[in-house]
Amino acid sequence: MKGATSIYYPPGPVHKLPLSLFLNFLRNPIEVLNDISRYGDISHFKFGTQHVYFLNHPDYIRDALVTYNNNFIKSRGLQLAKKVLGVGLLTSEGNIHRKQRQLIQPAFHQDRLKIYTAIMTEYILRMTNGWKDNDVLDVHKEFMQLTLAIVCKTLLGFDIESQACEIGKYVTTLVEYFNRARLPLAEVIEKLPLSSNRRFRYAKKQLDSIIYHIIDNRRNEYANGTVLHAHDNHDGDLISILLASKEFSSVNETSPHSISSLQLRDNVMTIFLAGHETMANALTWTFYLLSQNNKEERKLHEEVDSVLGHDLFPTVANIPKLEYTEKILTESIRLYPPAWAVGRQAIHDCKIGEYTIPAGSTILMSQYLMHRDKRFFLEPERFNPDRWNNETRTNLPRFSYFPFGGGPRGCIGEPFAWIEGIIAIATIARGWIMKLESGHPIALKALATLRPKYGMRMKIIRRNV
Ligand code: HEM
Repeated sequence: MKGATSIYYPPGPVHKLPLSLFLNFLRNPIEVLNDISRYGDISHFKFGTQHVYFLNHPDYIRDALVTYNNNFIKSRGLQLAKKVLGVGLLTSEGNIHRKQRQLIQPAFHQDRLKIYTAIMTEYILRMTNGWKDNDVLDVHKEFMQLTLAIVCKTLLGFDIESQACEIGKYVTTLVEYFNRARLPLAEVIEKLPLSSNRRFRYAKKQLDSIIYHIIDNRRNEYANGTVLHAHDNHDGDLISILLASKEFSSVNETSPHSISSLQLRDNVMTIFLAGHETMANALTWTFYLLSQNNKEERKLHEEVDSVLGHDLFPTVANIPKLEYTEKILTESIRLYPPAWAVGRQAIHDCKIGEYTIPAGSTILMSQYLMHRDKRFFLEPERFNPDRWNNETRTNLPRFSYFPFGGGPRGCIGEPFAWIEGIIAIATIARGWIMKLESGHPIALKALATLRPKYGMRMKIIRRNV
């Protein structure tokens, strides 16, 4: 199709009402993208005046995330999320992003992950110790509290447990705000005297005060000499690395929350949000899938019973032996990728396939649709952990499976997430079976992450082991 400025657009839907497609997208984004994917591997449509390109082929996704990643910045929605996340790792660009990534990386080093493993197990057991045989629970809520507590303790050195439920509510309010931030009139809506705006401001204020409390605690430890060195074994977590860095550590005497504190706050808030919701969704969908696939569930039990022996939870040494457990997680985040889509905005013209994507356009890529594409996955709708054999892993084109994104903006927490997921699945499966409560509705809520719309009410049954 030829556009008014002689730009050749890829095929795509054309709507008479400029906002109708966008409003549909807000209601059911996955269905809308699925319809659009029928136009080809690159399609084009408009959200109001905004040109959007949907990339639905692994090679084009690689072009956007890796080869030409310098041509793109984060999408408009994430730019607006800066109101909450400031300019932390997820939302910053260019040099600031590169510097922050370099600085933060050691918090995810293999040696640190070994230390985190023990903390993860402790918190998982604390959760399951509170369960009673035949309880019916919303396991999504349980996992949200668990993963939040884990990320706080491992990376921020803070035990949040008693406040986890309350904090979970504030986090949900912020995530809903991110979703609304994508609306065309978001800036106007935000100024109206709506109760949702008051809730958002309150949630942000509460979370800010918790985060400043965590930061101040650690600063005091430094000032009192309790913390010896940022890379000491017991204290090389994210917050100590940030505090020890020259760029972050200078304190402005006139204000207790100086610019440097603000940068610190932004990164702590980023890890707080990016580091737990995705994993909570992954665990929720995993136990849902297991409840629907008894053969695979039995096979998982066989593996954890034999690898763990008399133990109730895995150690670092056990993790490589939990091969089937890992396949289950791999398959679960194929079918229900917690980050179900990623977006970018072009800052320079960029050629992808045979089309030039002009600066200012938005591009979208969807893990959910790519992971269910029958060109790459046999029987894509089927939960089949065994598909993840060596042959599949070698032959799959890169970016037909990309739950953690990729390139310089790929997930920094990926190694952390694999360990946390495998340990949680193995520890829970060793002691418990989860059965979906009869009649509980299952639907997707595709906000910034892929949540179960109605939570996940499951009966938890103690295993006889
Ligand atoms: C199953 C779990 C997880 C999934 C599916 C996931 C997915 C992703 C994806 C797709 C991105 C890239 C977004 C983009 O390209 O726009 C990302 C980035 C990021 N993730 Fe994760 N994530 C998970 C767990 C974690 C954990 C546990 C942490 C931290 C403890 C974390 C921290 C981050 C951060 C800070 C970024 C931004 C990286 C950057 O821009 O340099 N994530 N994640």
